[in-house]
Order: sequence, then C-alpha cells, then structure tokens
Amino acid sequence: MRLILAPMEGLADQSLREILTRLGGIDLCVAEFVRVTNHLLTEKMLLRTVPELASGGCTRAGVPVRVQLLGSDPVCLAENAAFIAGLGAPGIDLNFGYPAPTVNRHGGGAVLLQYPEQIHTIVAATRRAVPEHIPVTAKMRLGLEDTSLTLDCARAIEAGGADEITVHARTKTDRYRPPARWEWLAHIREAVKLPVVANGEVWTPQDSEKIRQVSGCTDVMIGRGAIVRPDLMRRIKTGERPCTGRNCFPGSSITATSCAPGWTRSMRRGGSSNGWE
Ligand SMILES: Cc1cc2nc3c(=O)[nH]c(=O)nc-3n(C[C@H](O)[C@H](O)[C@H](O)COP(=O)(O)O)c2cc1C
Repeated sequence: MRLILAPMEGLADQSLREILTRLGGIDLCVAEFVRVTNHLLTEKMLLRTVPELASGGCTRAGVPVRVQLLGSDPVCLAENAAFIAGLGAPGIDLNFGYPAPTVNRHGGGAVLLQYPEQIHTIVAATRRAVPEHIPVTAKMRLGLEDTSLTLDCARAIEAGGADEITVHARTKTDRYRPPARWEWLAHIREAVKLPVVANGEVWTPQDSEKIRQVSGCTDVMIGRGAIVRPDLMRRIKTGERPCTGRNCFPGSSITATSCAPGWTRSMRRGGSSNGWE
C-alpha cells in the first residue's frame, strides 16, 4: 500500500510537506497546482511552489514530490511538463478537479470533466513530451455536476497514456459534502486497467481500511486528514495508537495544536476560503 499526501493549495506547502514526511508513513507527495496559461514557466516560478525541485525533487526525508499542472492548453501543458521533467521532477500530475470559477472560466480544472476528448488530448500530449521513465499521472473528481461522464473521463486518461489516476470521489457540485462516493472508485477500477488511487474523506486508519475495501484500490491519497492528524499516515502504516497531541512530533517541541476540534470541523467543510470549498 502507498500513502500519498494530497495537493492542497494554501495548506500543504513545502514546510508542511517537510514536517509531515518527517513524521513518516508518506510514500509520495503531490504539490499544490501550478497554473499553466499560455507561456513557459520559469525555473524561479516553479521553485516558489515546489522548492524541492532544487534538491532532486524530494523532501529532506527522501519522499518524492510530484509537480501538479493546471491548465487547458495541451501544447502549453506539454511544453511546461517537459521543462519541469528536465528540472528533475519525479513525476507530473495533471489536475482535472479544481472547482473555482476563476480557473473553470478559462477552461481548466473540473470543467474539463465535461470534455473527455480534451482530457485525452492533454494527457496524450503531456505523456509524449515527458521522458518515459517519469510518471505522468492525473487527478480527477467524478464529474462536474453528475457522474454521467465519470467512466469516459477515466478511460480518456488511460487512453492518453497516463501511468496512474487519482480520484477524489465527488463531483464538483458535491463540493466537500460527506460522504464521499467511494463506490464509484470500484466502478472506475472496473473500467480501466491503470492503477487507481482512492481519495476523499479519509480521517482515520479505519477510514483508510474501509476505502480500500469498498474500492478495491491499494493506494490511498489523504489531504485534510493528514493536517488534522499529522501522524495519521504513520499510524495507518504502523498501526500505532492515536495521536494525543504529545506523541505526534517525537523529539520536537511542536505539539499538535491542529488536533483542536474547531480546526477539525473547519477542515471537514473544505478547510479554506481559496476556492476549494
Ligand atoms: C485547501 C485545499 C486545497 C486544495 N488544493 C488542491 C490542489 O492544488 N490540487 C488538487 O488536485 N487538489 C486540491 N485539493 C483537493 C485535495 O487534494 C483532495 O482531493 C480533497 O481535499 C479530498 O481529499 P481529503 O478528503 O483527504 O481532504 C485541495 C483541497 C483543499 C481542502
């Protein structure tokens, strides 16, 4: 089983990735998205979002950090992906889930879930541009407003040559309303052969077990749960006892103030005011 730290714009930046990967249990991080419009990004811009690129694309604990791109222009996405691969990124992830109207208006993020053919073109162009040994992956929601095109989108990602697909088991319209629709992960697994990573509403080791049982997925991506319980991934891996706020950061003076109930409630609602709610 691999545990993957979810991209979370405004929350999971390099500092948080450092702390969480030091705590253990995380096999891979996906950095918050980098927006691609109509030009080639510079190394300086990329290092602002993914400073790990300056040190082999890994956190100090040695955990690889994939770079996530958000955009709708296949040529521009592919050219940027090739450039980022050249900087030493251990993987490129394509975002098909961002819900904010500012980006959706320009044809990027979740709005692409209405156009499987465009998704296919983007994935195929990016896969062609990136050296074979570097994974090109995609992250999607189930759809924009409903699940009518979920399987078409997943198949388009597979046909485009992606190495893996992560599915946040909700539509954009579902926002962050629980429960996540884990049963859809199983439908997607039946429709495609590429590995499917399960994502959405994993807050405890029990949730992690359950999402794997319901979906049949081996790998799980966790976002808000890893912030509310910084040792969650390690506990899932090792089966150790719950965090009490004192045993979260062994050997450090940091305490898990993020375990406070108010913070937990706010995280469950989406956790931010930056368009992800
Ligand atoms: C504040 C915030 C920022 C997010 N930023 C991104 C992002 O940059 N890229 C992305 O693909 N998903 C982003 N997401 C979605 C998460 O990666 C994840 O799919 C979602 O939170 C569901 O997983 P969880 O229930 O484990 O939190 C964001 C979510 C939140 C709450």
